[in-house]
Formats: sequence, C-alpha cells, structure tokens
Amino acid sequence: MVTIPIEATTPYDVVVDDQDRWIEMKEWSSYSMLWVVTDEHVDSLYGETFRSKLTRVHPHVVWSVVEPGDASKSLSSLEHLVTEGLGHGCDRHTLLVAFGGGMIGDLAGFLASVYMRGISYIQVPTTILAHDSAVGGKVAVNHPLAKNAIGSFHQPSGVYYNVSRLDTLPVQEVRSGLGELLKHAYLSRYVLESSFEDDLFLALNKGEEMDWVSWLARGIRVKQAIVETDEREQGIRAWLNFGHTFGHALESVESYRIPHGEAVLHGMVFAFLLSGDEERAERLFDWMRLNDVTPIDWKPSAHYIERMMVDKKNRHGSIRFVLLRESISVESVSTEQIYSTLEKMKGWWGR
Ligand SMILES: NC(=O)c1ccc[n+]([C@@H]2O[C@H](COP(=O)([O-])OP(=O)(O)OC[C@H]3O[C@@H](n4cnc5c(N)ncnc54)[C@H](O)[C@@H]3O)[C@@H](O)[C@H]2O)c1
Repeated sequence: MVTIPIEATTPYDVVVDDQDRWIEMKEWSSYSMLWVVTDEHVDSLYGETFRSKLTRVHPHVVWSVVEPGDASKSLSSLEHLVTEGLGHGCDRHTLLVAFGGGMIGDLAGFLASVYMRGISYIQVPTTILAHDSAVGGKVAVNHPLAKNAIGSFHQPSGVYYNVSRLDTLPVQEVRSGLGELLKHAYLSRYVLESSFEDDLFLALNKGEEMDWVSWLARGIRVKQAIVETDEREQGIRAWLNFGHTFGHALESVESYRIPHGEAVLHGMVFAFLLSGDEERAERLFDWMRLNDVTPIDWKPSAHYIERMMVDKKNRHGSIRFVLLRESISVESVSTEQIYSTLEKMKGWWGR
C-alpha cells in the first residue's frame, strides 16, 4: 500500500493498494449517508461486493447507476442524479462516492461540487487512466459543443485505489490508461528528481505483469508535484495537457471512437515532432504500432485544425501546444507547421 498526501486548499490522501483496507480505516460517523455513483459495467463486475463492504461500515448507502461511456458525462445525467439524490433524502452531510473510471470521477465529482452548493466526495477509481483524472479536483460534464465545457474545481476528500479491479479492464482501456501514465513518465524528468520514462518502456517491453501499485504511484507523484504548485491551472498545470491539443482534436474528429488515452498517445507523437524530438516520437510510435493502438482513420488536415482552433490553451486565435525540449514550454505553432506535421504522421502510419 502506498499513501500519497496531496497538499491542496483541502488536503487529502491518495491511497494505492491491492485491496480495500481503506474502508476499515476511514472515519465514517460524520456522514449521514453514502451515495455511490457508478456505471453499469463497474456495477455488474464489482457492485455487489463493494456495496456489502460499505454497508458494514454505514447503515445508509444509496446507489445510482448510469450508462457507461462519455455520453453520460452530461447535464441531463447530472439532473437525473440530482433527482435520485433528492428522492433518497441525500442531504449536505452525505458523502458521495465516485466508483468507476474517469467518466464517473468527473461526473460524480461535478455533482458533488453543485449538489446543495457542494458536498464531500471521494474517488474510488477502477481504471488505469483514472490515476490521472481522480487526482487534482478538476471535475466536469460535457456540452454538445465541447468536452468538459461545464466544470469546476472541487477537491475530493480522498482517493482510494484497489488495483485488483484493473484485471477486468478491456485491452483497449489498458492502452488508454497507459497513454496518461506515459505522459506522466515524460513529464517526470522535469518535475521529479529522476525520470521513470526508460524504466516504464523497459517494463512494458518485457511484457511482464505490471506492478500497478508502484506504477500508478509513480504517475500520481508527477501529478502531485504539478497540482500542488498550481491547483487552479494558472501556470504549470497546463503541462498536463502534453499531447492533448492534437489528442482532443482527434477524439472529436473520430466522434470519440478512440478512447481518451489512446488519442493522447497520438497527440504526444505529434507534440514530440513539433518539439523537434524525432527520437522520442519514433520510440513512442513504434511502441504504439507493436501494441495495436487504434490507428487514425485520417481525414483532411483542415478537420483537425478546425478542432484545434477551439482548444482551451489558445490565445488570440493561435493554436498552442505543450512542447518538451530542454525545458517545457506552451507555444503558439503556425498552421503551416501543423499541416506539415500532420503530413509526416500520415506518412508514418502509411509506411
Ligand atoms: N478530471 C481530469 O483531470 C481528467 C483527466 C483525464 C481524463 N479525464 C476524463 O476521464 C474520462 C476517461 O476516463 P476512463 O478512460 O477511465 O473512462 P471511463 O470511465 O469511461 O471507463 C472506460 C470503460 O471502462 C469500463 N470500466 C471501468 N472500470 C472497469 C474495470 N475495472 N473493469 C472493466 N471495465 C471497466 C467503463 O465502464 C467504461 O466502459 C474522460 O471523460 C476524460 O475527459 C479527466
């Protein structure tokens, strides 16, 4: 078990374990009710056992289930959940429990930030990707015109991983989670004392079973270092967007057929090429090919540029990328350079 304390406006612990020891250790008496929000997949796999563990520590457990997938991260799901909460008598002393992947973490976290003007919540993540999304307190739902367009900052009062639940993840979701873990590995050389980029590639290429407690903890330490310095994204928190400018555009052009972390993998190849780091771009690209990362169904370049135009990092109409060189920078890049990088990537996928 690894415990990582996060310094934030309201500090909290991230516990990464291979069982649910935290349930016995937590103080529950101050909460009037526990309100679990989960999705149908997670509910069918783990709902019954998790619920019975919670009912041993608290007499009032309310259970809400939404459909899996990002379409549930919407204002209509939010309204539906508020109706359920009110119907069950959830009050301001209720603890909301986000039990699932990043979609549930974002939706339930946002619900906690607005329900009766804000209630406490904890994250119980069940995907690899959620080692990123569950930490840092950024919560949101999507708008039909833009992902995460309606959101807030609301820190959880704890994040509790039981990595034994990762065994049932479909292979595409494992790759997607590795996308965000690789992002943290690339950022580690700038924010930690030593980089774990080479170690991670070594472990992945050996094809051995991953020690998730240790790997997720390494990723979370990168996120910790960044969000503790910049809780509300006024500065370096933007670094966490490495790979996301092209990644988000790709997700949108592909109508979310490609999972988030896989899109970030493509986006990091793109950003390394823009950074002039062809060696890292090539190493990542080779790993992606070897591991069957969903290939891009290429559309005309203008489609990607149009989507990049609405990226949240942009300023005065210019498209900005997080670039990794000697140091990290967030820079405007010309459309000519973006066009030529798109052509290069199309060439790589075609070879
Ligand atoms: N808030 C943030 O800082 C932040 C950061 C990164 C990503 N995100 C958000 O996270 C979301 C993506 O998260 P995700 O990849 O975890 O997606 P997800 O929550 O949609 O989960 C992916 C799929 O895996 C299933 N699943 C979850 N746990 C499982 C398990 N243990 N076994 C089998 N199946 C399981 C889910 O039902 C779903 O079908 C996106 O909405 C993205 O915007 C947020």
